[in-house]
Amino acid sequence: MTNANEKNSITISAANGLRGEIFVPGDKSISHRAVILGSIAEGVTEVYGFLEGEDNLSTLNAFRQMGVEIEYEPSLAASYVVLKIHGAGAGTLKEPSNVIDARNSGTTARLLTGLLSSQPFFSVITGDDSLRKRPMRRVVEPLIKMGASITGREDARLLPLAIKGQRLHGINYKTPVASAQLKSAILLASLHADGETIVEEMEKSRDHTERMLKAFGADIRVEGLKVTVTSKNKLKGCKVYVPGDISSAAFFMVGAMITPDSDLLMNGVGVNPTRTGIIDILRKMGGNIDVEDKGEETGEPVANIRVKTSSLKGIDISGPELLPAIDEFPIICIAEEFASGRTTISWAVELRVKESDRIAVMSKHLRAMGVEAIEKTDGIIIEGYNAQRLSWQERVEIDSMGDHRIAMSFAIAGLMATKGITIKNPECADVSFLGFYETLKLVSV
Ligand code: S3P
Repeated sequence: MTNANEKNSITISAANGLRGEIFVPGDKSISHRAVILGSIAEGVTEVYGFLEGEDNLSTLNAFRQMGVEIEYEPSLAASYVVLKIHGAGAGTLKEPSNVIDARNSGTTARLLTGLLSSQPFFSVITGDDSLRKRPMRRVVEPLIKMGASITGREDARLLPLAIKGQRLHGINYKTPVASAQLKSAILLASLHADGETIVEEMEKSRDHTERMLKAFGADIRVEGLKVTVTSKNKLKGCKVYVPGDISSAAFFMVGAMITPDSDLLMNGVGVNPTRTGIIDILRKMGGNIDVEDKGEETGEPVANIRVKTSSLKGIDISGPELLPAIDEFPIICIAEEFASGRTTISWAVELRVKESDRIAVMSKHLRAMGVEAIEKTDGIIIEGYNAQRLSWQERVEIDSMGDHRIAMSFAIAGLMATKGITIKNPECADVSFLGFYETLKLVSV
């Protein structure tokens, strides 16, 4: 149901449903961490199901710049990527002779700022136009408290950042914002610091770093919202199995629910409880979703998820409920667009500093589609369309603004638009979901 009609745009036509069985690509957050920990561990790390999205390639390229040998291994299917990382252990990274470009990837920039603060060399990290506007000070602040030497634009609030590696000491830090990138930056810095580090969160952000550090043999303790890491940790290379990304599966969950004749099975999706907010929210809206537990892989729970056409209703969602679905805000807005009644999303200011200002962009684009959407400082109010198709006389055009999740969300809305929706600059979907439009076409009926 998709056609590449002209350069730099794609049209998604109406569909009756999404049917069949798919595997979504590997989890983006877990893939980043596998490359980072594999590169600083001693011995070989094999990563099965690595997400070869643009963001993860930024992390992979950064470690290659620092002398780490990372090979691609032959695998069963071209889309199933297996990496072999030859980690040489702590203190063996080499000074990168050029600037590290994280491009669009906040995870690369923030996690590497933490790790590189403790390495005995000089490094500079930058990013693309969007990333150079995103806040870095939240990460720089605790690292400076640990003894790091970091300078950058606007008092190190913005990239590029220049880091002069130092011997760091542990800290006891309460994070002012629930952010896994912030928590992980401190944890990565603490691995080579003197003394113990404790990071305490106000709400639990995604915990992939903690789980994977355990798999690599680190001395790490998690008690509720508190994570403790002892000094001078030695990591040992291991096998990492990357589950499907629930944030990518979310587009297909909503696509299947809002279209009239759907039955879609997604196999091997990661269902870490710090990420399953989308399942809880869709269930609360009346979504027909079945989760079949499939055990654990490298400390991460995995499940098969079956979704059918659902009659959705608008609900109120606020901060703590949204945190385990923070990246799903754009696609939740699309689900709400086709629900009955009003939805209010509040306490979500973090959404203003993602790959785009997602509150502003979603409000503007929903209005362009004729939906009643009110932008609030900390969220949005949406009046649902009650499962009716959008039947404008003309096809609507939506600009992705270079944000992958905006592009994919409006592609899903296109399934319910009689004249279809044209997405301008659709290729940014490659940041997290290679082959998104092809997979959508495959299951659209
Ligand atoms: C991520 C953490 C989240 C999330 C991002 C990936 C990670 O960001 O939005 O897409 O891999 O740690 P914050 O830490 O800024 O909340």
